[in-house]
Amino acid sequence: MSRSVAVIGLWWWCLVLRAEGLGVNWGTMANHKLPPKTVVQLLKDNGITKVKLFDADQSTMSVLAGSGIEVMIAIPNAELSAMNNYNRAKEWVRRNVTRYNFQGGVTIKYVAVGNEPFLTSYNNSFLNTTFPALANIQNALNEAGVGDSIKATVPLNADVYGSPESNPVPSAGRFRPDILPQMTQIVQFLGNNKAPFTINIYPFLSLYANEHFPVDYAFFDGVSNPIADNGIQYTNVFDANFDTLVSSLRAVGLGDMEIIVGEVGWPTDGDRNANINYALRFYRGLLPRLAGNKGTPLRPGYIEVYLFGLLDEDIKSVAPGNFERHWGIFKYDGQPKFPMDLSGQLQDKYLIGAQDVNYLPKRWCMLKPDAKDLTKLGENINFACTFADCTPLGYGSSCNTLDANGNASYAFNMYFQAQGQKDTACGFQGLAMVTDQNISQGNCNFMIQIATTSSSTRFTQFFGATLFLLFLSLL
Ligand SMILES: *[C@@H]1O[C@H](CO)[C@@H](O)[C@H](O)[C@H]1NC(C)=O
Ligand SMILES: *[C@@H]1O[C@H](CO)[C@@H](O)[C@H](O)[C@H]1NC(C)=O
Ligand SMILES: *[C@@H]1O[C@H](CO)[C@@H](O)[C@H](O)[C@H]1NC(C)=O
Ligand SMILES: *[C@@H]1O[C@H](CO)[C@@H](O)[C@H](O)[C@H]1NC(C)=O
Ligand SMILES: *[C@@H]1O[C@H](CO)[C@@H](O)[C@H](O)[C@H]1NC(C)=O
Repeated sequence: MSRSVAVIGLWWWCLVLRAEGLGVNWGTMANHKLPPKTVVQLLKDNGITKVKLFDADQSTMSVLAGSGIEVMIAIPNAELSAMNNYNRAKEWVRRNVTRYNFQGGVTIKYVAVGNEPFLTSYNNSFLNTTFPALANIQNALNEAGVGDSIKATVPLNADVYGSPESNPVPSAGRFRPDILPQMTQIVQFLGNNKAPFTINIYPFLSLYANEHFPVDYAFFDGVSNPIADNGIQYTNVFDANFDTLVSSLRAVGLGDMEIIVGEVGWPTDGDRNANINYALRFYRGLLPRLAGNKGTPLRPGYIEVYLFGLLDEDIKSVAPGNFERHWGIFKYDGQPKFPMDLSGQLQDKYLIGAQDVNYLPKRWCMLKPDAKDLTKLGENINFACTFADCTPLGYGSSCNTLDANGNASYAFNMYFQAQGQKDTACGFQGLAMVTDQNISQGNCNFMIQIATTSSSTRFTQFFGATLFLLFLSLL
């Protein structure tokens, strides 16, 4: 083989890899965040080529610059109404999109306008502001001359569509009647701009929401009673849900629209169905299907998918459930939780963990073994758990088998770590003490937090980011 053929072959191979890479959601709702630079290296080390963000934070964008990683940036729901003003939308695009659009900049592919804005729990708060925001952002992208390569889309939750109870099959899928006018407007606009529909699909939530939901149907190993629909046998809820969307799109005349799965995954703690075994089973079914471009019965072929999520996020709202803080394919510190082969080859190996993570010293906070007056224990535990993450203590979770003293130590330690191991954070009215013994028990890990950036590296980062921005403003 001649050298040039080899080079072309390599180039082609890279293109294929790039086109078909798996994406991940990078959320940052954590008490002590890994440095963005460490996270980008983690993505690279594991061959992850696409990332979906929930904002457009400068510190994240500056480390993604030059990485070649494709990025979906986002406008939070709280900013949707502001984007109803076209000049404001243009400003957003100028400051958060076009400024990064140069050789060695950030490869932005999508702008997510809002995040699941039509969730029923939001009480229609974003019902009338989502479409105008979407239109303004795409129009601003078009006006800036980047609309061909950067598309605005709205990540929606799968509760925007469904099938009637009388005929619960994917082919009967329709958008929710109460939001049909808004959905139709959005879908037609996406179609006109060749932008994709973005949907978040959660088999875990199907199981969580309904105790009679057949467990096997959440996974991909086959079921004894498939759903029969026009000659198609549906054996898992992912396919059924995705195809319910395809039918809903068909019903509004846009059945061929591109669909991106913006979020899919399985949490590992915080509920009886959120554990390593189920997560392992879910991903061992999902990943080979994605790698094999199997698609769904109504949409065979490649689907662009973003796993949820990259890292655990210990200050996420637990309104939907305690599992919310445990979606990471990596732990809070960037270390893998279970074997996972992103290439879908089912090799029994672990992902590469984050490198050079700085931890706080090996010091834990615990209930004093000789504490006598325990009358104030309850209120101190409550205090700790208000400001730190105690979700692993709940029913069905990793620390649910601790005894009352273990519970207290767990709560005290989480607070102590969240506070960066400040001495004053292990007082609890004289009930607590610091120990250098690892007091973890069984599967219940008493964690050591990662160190937040020291002042010197913070200075370097600040300085680096300032230089980067200065450089941008010169362009
Ligand atoms: C850039 O995006 C972030 C996240 O949406 C937002 O908070 C910020 O206001 C944007 N900047 C401008 C100038 O619009
Ligand atoms: C939606 O309404 C419910 C019930 O009235 C209320 O408890 C909840 O806080 C509201 N949520 C939002 C986001 O406004
Ligand atoms: C949205 O707009 C419709 C039509 O103008 C109006 O009837 C409805 O009250 C609005 N809903 C909200 C939540 O603002
Ligand atoms: C430990 O805490 C959890 C969560 O608050 C609670 O459900 C459990 O009953 C507690 N266990 C004991 C032994 O107190
Ligand atoms: C503490 O022990 C647990 C369980 O043996 C282990 O998984 C964890 O890594 C240890 N923590 C530290 C900081 O050494």
